Amino acid sequence: MGTDICLDGKGEPMVVRGQIRDINGTPLQGVKVDVWQANDEGFYDVQQQGLQPDFNLRGMFTTGEDGTYWFKGVRPRHYAIPDDGPVGDLLNALGRHPNRPAHLHFIVSKDGYEGVTTHIFDPDDPYIDNDAVLGVKESLIATFEKVDDPSKLSEVDIKAPHHWEVAFDFVLTPEA
Ligand SMILES: [Fe+2]
Repeated sequence: MGTDICLDGKGEPMVVRGQIRDINGTPLQGVKVDVWQANDEGFYDVQQQGLQPDFNLRGMFTTGEDGTYWFKGVRPRHYAIPDDGPVGDLLNALGRHPNRPAHLHFIVSKDGYEGVTTHIFDPDDPYIDNDAVLGVKESLIATFEKVDDPSKLSEVDIKAPHHWEVAFDFVLTPEA
């Protein structure tokens, strides 16, 4: 917990936190939180091999007794999906742009519970209201708070002038 998954230190630092609970509100221990994200230019590591370190901005965390998770990353940027094939033709025909608002991907799983594979979004992204692939839902919008209080920065050992605090909780339902 608390690891910085941004291996090249590029972009605006971000701290992501939350809690995983069951439907009764009890914190869940031993939940796997698998996360991945694009960088500050909107590219995943696999799209910039040789430019980004391998496995940049990918992490796997396991919750403790309090059900919480936290890690450091970088504020992601929106990106365009590939539009040089049939998907691009479709978008063109509909008069739509190919951009997706900035987001963080999650797979949250624990034995005995329905897994959740989803992504959470930056509310201030210019494309938040018109995601090219229509993936944004109100319930998936996270909070992104800018923090520039030096004591709060030193609490998370961030040396930049500010960072973004991102919060998102998950609730897992028991397996049917
Ligand atoms: Fe993505």
